[in-house]
Amino acid sequence: MVVFGASGDLTRRKLLPAIFQLWCQNHLPESAAIIGYSRSEKTDESFRNELCDSIRNSLHCHQGLIDDSAWDAFASRIFYQQGAYDSPDDFAALSKRIEALNVERNAPGNCMHYLATPPSAFADIIRNLDCSSLARKGQSDPWSRIVIEKPFGTDLQSARDLNRIAREVFDEDQIFRIDHYLGKETVQNIMVLRFANSIFEHIWRHDYIDHIQITAAESLGVGSRGGYYDKSGALRDMVQNHLMHLLCLVAMEPPVTLTADAIRDEKVKVLNALRPIPPLCAANGVVRAQYSSGEINGKTEPGYRQAENVPTDSRTETFVAFKAHVDNWRWTGVPFYLRTGKRLPRRCTEISIHFEDIPQILFNRPPAGPLRPNVLTIRVQPNEGIALEFQTKAPGPAMNIEPLEMDFGYRESFGQAPPDAYQRLLLDAAVGDATLFTRSDEVEAAWAYVAPIIEGCSHDTAADMLQYPAGSWGPKEADELIQTDGNQWRLK
Ligand code: BG6
Repeated sequence: MVVFGASGDLTRRKLLPAIFQLWCQNHLPESAAIIGYSRSEKTDESFRNELCDSIRNSLHCHQGLIDDSAWDAFASRIFYQQGAYDSPDDFAALSKRIEALNVERNAPGNCMHYLATPPSAFADIIRNLDCSSLARKGQSDPWSRIVIEKPFGTDLQSARDLNRIAREVFDEDQIFRIDHYLGKETVQNIMVLRFANSIFEHIWRHDYIDHIQITAAESLGVGSRGGYYDKSGALRDMVQNHLMHLLCLVAMEPPVTLTADAIRDEKVKVLNALRPIPPLCAANGVVRAQYSSGEINGKTEPGYRQAENVPTDSRTETFVAFKAHVDNWRWTGVPFYLRTGKRLPRRCTEISIHFEDIPQILFNRPPAGPLRPNVLTIRVQPNEGIALEFQTKAPGPAMNIEPLEMDFGYRESFGQAPPDAYQRLLLDAAVGDATLFTRSDEVEAAWAYVAPIIEGCSHDTAADMLQYPAGSWGPKEADELIQTDGNQWRLK
């Protein structure tokens, strides 16, 4: 495996800890080797030491202290190759290094190229993989695959261009567009919940569901990623990819089989059924805001415009909320409220399905009523699980009705937290299973929906961006968005 962008944050914080875990669980072959490739000057030894430190510190390395013998065995499989992304000569050197390692380790020569670089380097790397004969289009033995990190393009045209370049050099079944949300156990469980249980699927439609809320809240700010984030914003960073996947999995029709293409066909149909939000409507109907200084967990945090590499007059959104509609028979009239933001009170991603109101008869009359309608909540993270809220009679002579939750938690039921998403996705890419990766038409359909929203927002003529204090649930306009329809955000 070659990791391009070896000096980056992603490699240190997510990829290598995940690969190390896979090694510890005996998922990697003896002949495995990982080459980090980037422009910085390093030796194999210094690269290994850097990784060792970050793996030790990584929250994603669930086993606490590293077992020294496992680390030593793993570290001997890590190498470093310095090179530029646009230099055919450097790629020729990389190719030679791979060749030598294959011979030395008697390895079959399969190779996964992981693009963990800034997106501006993607096209150069793909072209140079081609020039150095590392792409091996159409060959399956030994195989060559490419994993491309998000963001996949910055708008529809750039996504199309990147797809075109990638497909000139690789076959579609060699290309793995990664979105780590799809590797989360709870996200994979959405399909199981819907299609492996008969009680849910019958009521999973407009006749029974009033509305759906999808919230991806983070308490962290942009940290040291201001340079990237300011060109991206919440719409590109979270909505076009992570939130769209969640929406597709909740709204899709049952696929005919569980093959990667059958599932992705259904997801694309949802994206194509999304009611377009034309630029003019986006300017009014989409709530965008930026966090200002505020308090989270008793600590005062600076505002977005004070973050490293963020211009002090930035108009990039760190929060977005809007209403989507899936215009098909199943979902007609059901609003999907989507919301994501940084520096909200806590880290929490969840999907809540709000069922229809209870008829205003029997128990749902004053003084007991109005009773809260049933809500099914899929907690994507943290405290992964599913909860169903329903009404029950509190014990005693009076007819007191209280809402209660039936709750399933991954940790309690399975005795451990779900594994890290990257472990699952790296393993899937290694065995060639593309189910949890985004197909080219899927990525383009998501952009076709989100790009006009971004365009509309860019014409925003307001004197300044809406602000919300760090530690709040966003601006009041986001509450008004949902209250206009008589609803409330579940998390508030
Ligand atoms: C990344 C975004 O894709 O997802 C980040 O670029 C965001 O800005 C992160 O913080 C959230 O992922 P998770 O798994 O922590 O919810």
